[in-house]
Amino acid sequence: MTDRAEIFEVGPRDGLQNEKAAIPTAAKIAFVDLLSRTGFRRIEVGSFVNPKRVPQMADSGAVFDGIARAPGVSHAALVPNLRGLQAATDAKADEIAIFAAASEGFSKANIGATIDESLARYAEVAKAATVPVRGYVSCVTVCPYDGATPPDAVARVAAALDAMGCYEISLGETLGRGTPEQVGAMLDAVLDRVPAAKLAGHFHDTGGMALANIETAVTKGLRVFDAAAGGLGGCPFAPGAAGNVATGLVRQRLDDMGFDTGLDAALLFEAEAMARDMRKGTA
Ligand code: HMG
Ligand code: MG
Repeated sequence: MTDRAEIFEVGPRDGLQNEKAAIPTAAKIAFVDLLSRTGFRRIEVGSFVNPKRVPQMADSGAVFDGIARAPGVSHAALVPNLRGLQAATDAKADEIAIFAAASEGFSKANIGATIDESLARYAEVAKAATVPVRGYVSCVTVCPYDGATPPDAVARVAAALDAMGCYEISLGETLGRGTPEQVGAMLDAVLDRVPAAKLAGHFHDTGGMALANIETAVTKGLRVFDAAAGGLGGCPFAPGAAGNVATGLVRQRLDDMGFDTGLDAALLFEAEAMARDMRKGTA
């Protein structure tokens, strides 16, 4: 019997948020609809953040309004505060994600708050939410502002998100420059506090190490990995970060390792082509 692993598709949010060219709302809707037919159980559709800071996500409400809801597919929204939660609720997001960081420099740059301020804010959001809440920890190996992140700092934030009720915590290798050794040490610290079944790996691929990092995470027991169709993306507040690892590459590598992701390879190929067209402005 083949083991199962899951890819959480984050292309419509993490993939597109950093694109400078205006991408038509209709193209984003078509992208999500194609992904919804591809076999993903969870897709991050957009974010409800300050539109002056992330203009590409300003139409997330319209994207949620336009997509076809598919049975068995959870359409997720990233939210930074109670206002974002309200917008996600209005948009009928099936789940939300809150996003903390393991380094003070990135926390300040990304959400204008210290780590502890953000955790207090997120505890309110998690308490008020009426849908499942996922948590992110950014900069799990290295921070563009503070340098190397101590594994214990990651474990502390992951445990705090777990304690506030997040059903899963996604460990963000935001800069995409971490090595398997760093990822392994970080995971050892986190696994002392949160079980593997509640963790996901979120690897950006700046240094070309994302697949090796995923293999390390698999050996530590993780079975959920975030990825973006076409390898789009980056974070506007993480200078030098490249896109998320490409979904097709992760699917192939997990397949090679004996894991079934349940994805339709032909539809995924189409979605990745659509993602690249969006970047070129031809979608
Ligand atoms: P702030 O830092 O206190 O102040 O906001 P600000 O000046 O940035 O924003 C204040 C303005 O935002 C005000 O409007 C508010 O009304 C408005 P103004 O008076 O200027 O017109 N505002 C909102 N507007 C819409 N929706 C809201 C909302 N809340 C306030 N929910 C805030 C704090 C968090 C809102 C802001 O810093 C922000 O939006 N940051 C953007 C964060 C972001 O989206 N980053 C990218 C995603 S995280 C990521 O990519 C990492 C991840 O992929 C994992 C990984 O790779 O590591 C998840
Ligand atoms: Mg990311």
